[in-house]
Amino acid sequence: MMNSISRNSSSLIPKKPLDAVLIGAGARGWHTYGRWALKNKDRIKFIAVAEPREARRQGFAKEWDISKKRQFTSWKDLLNEAIGKIADACVICTQDKMHTEPALKALQLGYHVLLEKPMATTKQECIELVKQAEKVGRQLRICHVARYTTMFSTIKHAINEGLIGDIINIIHSENVAYWHFPHGYVRGNWRKATDSSPVIIAKTCHDLDLLYWLVESPTKSVQSFGELSFYRTENAPKGAPDRCLDGCPVAETCPWYAPRLYIEAEPLIRITQRSKKWRLRFAGKLLLNHRKFVKFLSIFIKPLRNFLNWQYWPATVISDDLSVEGKIQALKSGPWGRCVFHCDNDVPDHQTVNIQFKNNVTATMTMHGHSYLDGRWIRISGTKGSLLGEFTYAGEKITYYDHRYVHEKVLWENDITFGAHSDGDSGLMESFVNSLLNEGSEREDPLTSARASLESHLMGFAAEKSRLEHNVIDMDDFRD
Ligand SMILES: NC(=O)c1ccc[n+]([C@@H]2O[C@H](COP(=O)([O-])OP(=O)(O)OC[C@H]3O[C@@H](n4cnc5c(N)ncnc54)[C@H](O)[C@@H]3O)[C@@H](O)[C@H]2O)c1
Repeated sequence: MMNSISRNSSSLIPKKPLDAVLIGAGARGWHTYGRWALKNKDRIKFIAVAEPREARRQGFAKEWDISKKRQFTSWKDLLNEAIGKIADACVICTQDKMHTEPALKALQLGYHVLLEKPMATTKQECIELVKQAEKVGRQLRICHVARYTTMFSTIKHAINEGLIGDIINIIHSENVAYWHFPHGYVRGNWRKATDSSPVIIAKTCHDLDLLYWLVESPTKSVQSFGELSFYRTENAPKGAPDRCLDGCPVAETCPWYAPRLYIEAEPLIRITQRSKKWRLRFAGKLLLNHRKFVKFLSIFIKPLRNFLNWQYWPATVISDDLSVEGKIQALKSGPWGRCVFHCDNDVPDHQTVNIQFKNNVTATMTMHGHSYLDGRWIRISGTKGSLLGEFTYAGEKITYYDHRYVHEKVLWENDITFGAHSDGDSGLMESFVNSLLNEGSEREDPLTSARASLESHLMGFAAEKSRLEHNVIDMDDFRD
């Protein structure tokens, strides 16, 4: 059944781990890449951290036994001439607007850089980053984690093998769940384009990057439509206060009631009901319908407490204090406790992009924040066959349809992953670390180099220009 490709090379045995410094010990820096590194201490070691939030800085430093003199409150204190280059790699996971400056500085100091997406928030900055990386001859790898998933690398491999002939058209959808979209784009960090980046960059630069990677052609024209239709004050239920905890009259029925997401994680636990594993479905049912019983069990089975008071993403984003009291305090005063209809958000909650590539392949990409389930769907139609992909929190599947014999075959299937990235985060780290430890081919041509990532960022900026100006963007003019 399985034709998926293996993308790891963990058989490589390094002589000594790679030294790295971390800039920004937040959800991505600490909880994603940092946690992967902890399981791979023989291959990578963090020796310094820059992070202004004390709890995060100290928490990360403790895990890595980083001395006080190598703990910094800002990237500027770590990346400067006086200190110079103290490690092989610099992992930059600050917020969108704080990517270009530290990345340029790290490259100038001689670091190889792993930089979170979006690489930058303007076209000029993206180009500057590509030029600087190529000038100093250091790796600048962008965290387009989707390319490193088994799911999308299997699709890419199938296309390269000629399974569906030449690609004619792609329909791709980034379905952001009704609870996830407000977390990031209504209440959260990416709610205002001017403070972060346009949603078509912040949320879907991965999707545009996938299209470009699969089609293997630069873009000819881009057109986009999109609006902020729903998460607006005029749609608030009658009497809804500014914050969920200020006595909201519709708390019981509102899908966005904050404690239900950040304390009980109900939407995430509901996903268990889609699993093929009966044990997971059963555990989910208990948590959803018999919380008192689970509370009783948690007296004897300690890890259950992490589920009763959710200890993972997205709860880790709202506060450094993950006790129930700590979270309630965060919901009473922080951005994530606000009513989704009373926020200062301005990014569209649905947007479409039409793309024509130079090889005449056409594609449409839709992003929206009203999905029942989080995840991506893709349909790739070729001259000989079609591929359908589902890449969701509740499982993954690639189905191949042969046009001649009209039969279908499942190329790849995976059960619930509970995450939007599946094995993409670990695949990215594997690849980055291995390429630096071993002077292999990846060192010259990383899968998601700044140069490879530039096109998708240009597509995103062009799409936003099109949405705002209601016109079709000629990409050659736009590049100039
Ligand atoms: N690759 C992906 O799929 C993916 C997924 C989610 C987020 N992201 C991107 O990753 C980046 C980080 O997102 P996050 O969710 O981890 O955010 P976060 O807010 O949790 O982490 C950013 C951290 O940077 C710290 N910081 C602020 N100023 C700093 C300074 N001067 N020096 C050093 N650190 C500083 C903040 O205190 C914070 O802890 C964003 O650009 C985001 O768009 C990428």
